[in-house]
Amino acid sequence: MALDLLDRPVNSKYLDSCEIPFEEKKAGSFIMVIFGGAGDLSKRKLLPTLYHLFKDKRLIDDFYIIGFGKPDLSDNEYRKIVDDAVKEFLNNDYDKKVIDEFLSHVLYLSADLVAPEDYKLLCRKINEVKNIFKDKDFNLIYYMAVQPGIVLNIINILEELKLCKDILKSKIILEKPFGVDKESAIKLNESILKAFDEKQIYRIDHYLGKDTVLNILFFRFANSIFEPMWNRRYIDHIQITVSEDIGIEHRGKFYEQAGVVRDIVQNHIMQLIALVACEPPVGFEADLIRDEIVKVLRTIRIMDTEYLKNNVVMGQYGRGTVNGKEVCGYREENDVSQKSIVPTYFAAKIFIDNWRWAQVPFYIRTGKRLAKRVTEIYVQFKQPPLKLFGRLCDPMEPNALIITVQPDENILLRMSVKYPGIYNHPYTVNMDFNYEKSFGIKSIPAYTRLIMDCIKGDLTLFARQDAIEAMWSFIDPINKWWENLPHKISDSPNYDAGTWGPSEASLLMSDDGRKWRFEE
Ligand code: BG6
Repeated sequence: MALDLLDRPVNSKYLDSCEIPFEEKKAGSFIMVIFGGAGDLSKRKLLPTLYHLFKDKRLIDDFYIIGFGKPDLSDNEYRKIVDDAVKEFLNNDYDKKVIDEFLSHVLYLSADLVAPEDYKLLCRKINEVKNIFKDKDFNLIYYMAVQPGIVLNIINILEELKLCKDILKSKIILEKPFGVDKESAIKLNESILKAFDEKQIYRIDHYLGKDTVLNILFFRFANSIFEPMWNRRYIDHIQITVSEDIGIEHRGKFYEQAGVVRDIVQNHIMQLIALVACEPPVGFEADLIRDEIVKVLRTIRIMDTEYLKNNVVMGQYGRGTVNGKEVCGYREENDVSQKSIVPTYFAAKIFIDNWRWAQVPFYIRTGKRLAKRVTEIYVQFKQPPLKLFGRLCDPMEPNALIITVQPDENILLRMSVKYPGIYNHPYTVNMDFNYEKSFGIKSIPAYTRLIMDCIKGDLTLFARQDAIEAMWSFIDPINKWWENLPHKISDSPNYDAGTWGPSEASLLMSDDGRKWRFEE
């Protein structure tokens, strides 16, 4: 018998039982102006994603993509760049016929992005293009794929030219960093709000576009069996690991300013914490979910200097071997100072001071050039109240739930069963859900979902300003503490590339009688 994705017999009564159609997946018409259209982010992510959406025909109506940036390129030269980018970054999906059709929707204008006079051409082009559209109610999307330093200049020019609030359905997509601390984030936002309303602002955190990240909410709130246990009564502790095997990859200048805390903790890790720990929203709508995210972010305990000293471990990688290849240390990377004290590793024990999570430690860690790439949420449950099986001296394996976000997309439940045979031995086994095995497909790349949502006007997976500020409230004391420490140059590097980070990070766990899921 044929089954559908939910293992329901095809043509069965289940499929007919609901007359409400699934949401309309098709996006409306749009013009997307990509500032920095020939830059790295555009080539790696945006252009391949837009091509992918186009290839998946039900997603897009009339549209034009206008690359806008410094290099002096003709439309055709730009199209060649787009073609190459799709070939390189979306090789399996490349189709000559489809790409040619796609490229007929791609235009380019070269401009000094901070020179208002260069925007006249852009206005003219937008007007020309919109006359071609059947649907006059189109989206005008500005994608800021540029250095953060010039974002405000661009927005000011768009505002002067009345291309922001005044234009129906105009939207702006912003990439992190949203400031470097809370104060600068507030100032930046005030300036952006002069040009755009909050509802026009799409702040991207690509982690929220990952299906497996969103699955945290589905797992928690589409099932009735886990949520009653999802609290301090049943959970011993939670570990969140975002480990990367790559280094800083030609981004020395950026990384020297940012460091691991601004690059990963302030955004991706905080979003993961929020999804794991938030209260159930009363509906799956942008503000209902974002309200819950802000609420939980505001209850993460702010760490003072004394606490930071004992519960945070930072580090920087030295030379080592990753995946069998020798790699250089952080200080030897391009555009990095040989005396840099910028951290590439962060681990901490944090607490969420609300009714649900009081006293439950959340251990979080992230780093570059670690032993392997894995993003994972590990939830360890408390032990049963009495030991009935095995010898008293045998350690008891706790129940655990492991949500692996990448590279394998898994949800795994560890539990004890009886080992076969005549003795009463408990044995730990896994109950496993694997995304690819179950659905026969890999999850879609994060940007696909996010760009689609933006075109459709769905803000659910984009960060709201109050959440950004709540994140900075937690992050600022960490950065201040680190920046004010009397660092000695010889303190770094303190871990070898290809390992699980500084040894002190293990103490963070072992001092509490626990251990990291992955360690030396
Ligand atoms: C980015 C960071 O936001 O996320 C990078 O700036 C990091 O430093 C990247 O490598 C990780 O993303 P992913 O999707 O590979 O986990």
